[in-house]
Amino acid sequence: MQEETINTNKFTSVLLDVKNEVLAQIVDASSITELEELRIAYLGRNGKVTNLIKNIKNLPKNEKKRVGSLINEVKNTILNALATQKNSFKESARDWFDASIPGEKPIVGRLHLVTQAIREISNTFEKIGFTRVRYPEVEWDWYAFESLNIPKNHPARDDWETFFIDTPPHARYGLMALTPHTSSGQVREMMRVKEPPIRMLNIAKNYRRQSDISHVPMFHQFEGLVIDEGISIIHLKGTLDYFARNFFGKDRKTRLRPHHFQFTEPSFEVDISCGVCNGKGCRLCKEGWLELGGAGMVHPTVLKNGKINPNKYSGFAFGWGVERTFMMKAGLEIGDIRLLYSTGLKFLRQF
Ligand code: PHE
Repeated sequence: MQEETINTNKFTSVLLDVKNEVLAQIVDASSITELEELRIAYLGRNGKVTNLIKNIKNLPKNEKKRVGSLINEVKNTILNALATQKNSFKESARDWFDASIPGEKPIVGRLHLVTQAIREISNTFEKIGFTRVRYPEVEWDWYAFESLNIPKNHPARDDWETFFIDTPPHARYGLMALTPHTSSGQVREMMRVKEPPIRMLNIAKNYRRQSDISHVPMFHQFEGLVIDEGISIIHLKGTLDYFARNFFGKDRKTRLRPHHFQFTEPSFEVDISCGVCNGKGCRLCKEGWLELGGAGMVHPTVLKNGKINPNKYSGFAFGWGVERTFMMKAGLEIGDIRLLYSTGLKFLRQF
């Protein structure tokens, strides 16, 4: 085949034009992908520069060496420009990613101590067949007091420093109040279940006008109510002992003190030995014992108000403060119960 020679000057000027063309585009490129596309378009197997180089065989023999080194120079210039532009992208990438900067710790939420306490108390009683219920936080006088054998103007009402709601009284149920104790759920539960057995665990918010190191105006109680045929004080004692062993641990002791409630007969005050001072006496407990709350055998009048036949059925009830009960657990030294409802995260995050 006849070798066709081409003009060296023309070849050189075309080559330099192509070089300038690609260098201008490299400077304008804004991504690594664009650079790769340019490399393929000029230096790839079918690229503009590559195709030009294929023509080298048609140059006059004596020119080949000079043009060859020019071609190498052009190729290297283009490759360098590609690399420089690529590095400039990496540089700006480094501005927003520095692997040595410590990461931000995500904030991990936790349950409030009282929520933890409520869950633990529920679990303990559910194991022996209690069912958790909830009754209204804003309650009628009748459920909170009258149905529990505490008539209007009875002096016993003073024990529940009640917040009444400023609305006209209901003809049968009387005034509304912020529930001062979970016992307001007793007659509601009797009416709900209608026919015993009843094994209720009512855990709810209660409100009373009180505030000192062991009282807050809004607190929680858990109320147990068991009604069936032949329920006696032995079942009450057995249930309290079970709770003390399982919730507080083997070292904690309980005692029953005779007491009076309008809605139980007989009535008791249940105490537990103080876990802070182990019964020696401290700022929290004063005499080594902490009052958990009341208990007793359900008064026949209350059963009647709940439409349950007191000649057939009997029952027991107890109602204790959740916050106090939880604080009395071993190892928990909360000097002031009001801290639980403060916004002090430093305190709350300990639990
Ligand atoms: N409701 C009583 C209180 O708040 C406690 C109690 C509950 C007493 C059940 C006896 C039976 O003090």
